[in-house]
Amino acid sequence: MPLPNNLWSEEILDVISTALLNQGYIVLEHALPAELVNRLQIEANKISDEAFAQAAIGRGPDQINDTSVRTDSIYWVNEPSETASSYLAYTEGLRQGLNSRLFLGLFDYECQYACYAPGAFYKLHSDSFPGRRNRILSSVLYLNTDWQPDDGGQLVLYAADEVSQLEIIRPQLNTLVLFLSERFPHEVLTARRTRYSLTGWFRV
Ligand code: OGA
Ligand code: MN
Repeated sequence: MPLPNNLWSEEILDVISTALLNQGYIVLEHALPAELVNRLQIEANKISDEAFAQAAIGRGPDQINDTSVRTDSIYWVNEPSETASSYLAYTEGLRQGLNSRLFLGLFDYECQYACYAPGAFYKLHSDSFPGRRNRILSSVLYLNTDWQPDDGGQLVLYAADEVSQLEIIRPQLNTLVLFLSERFPHEVLTARRTRYSLTGWFRV
């Protein structure tokens, strides 16, 4: 495997850093090699409903399990497969590339697969809340082929006022969204088709 530093070009790391500095987020289409994203998509589809459901139950005492806020299911990547490890090499390359440009001091990355069954949503929230101030940069990689506007499930990023919509993002295969966790309240609109993503946080 190449060094993480070589997985992203200097040019793309510059583009990402500049966007994070100037607007605090970036939406990258065709972000990763198609072959890797296909494998991640297959892996997400293979996680059984039971595994997703158990993950939801076993979230731990600090986790809010309030179905009025979110009705997706999550599966933490605790023991990464070879496929997940390849993805983690990319996030590690990003971590190093962004640290050297923005001095964010990001020291690790945690991620989870998420599955939204038809009808599932995640209401307006922030990824950084008391007790979770260590989340600096949020990432979402989408794993859905041919996502149509009618399929719903868009990610909506809001300004700090929680009213002005900054961006409405289609959860299309290989689109990667990066945003500063504390600055952007966001929501996932109701999905009308099963929606998979790999969501993670760079932390300090
Ligand atoms: C989250 C989240 C966004 C998305 O899991 O915290 O906001 O588009 N996900 O899946
Ligand atoms: Mn979120």
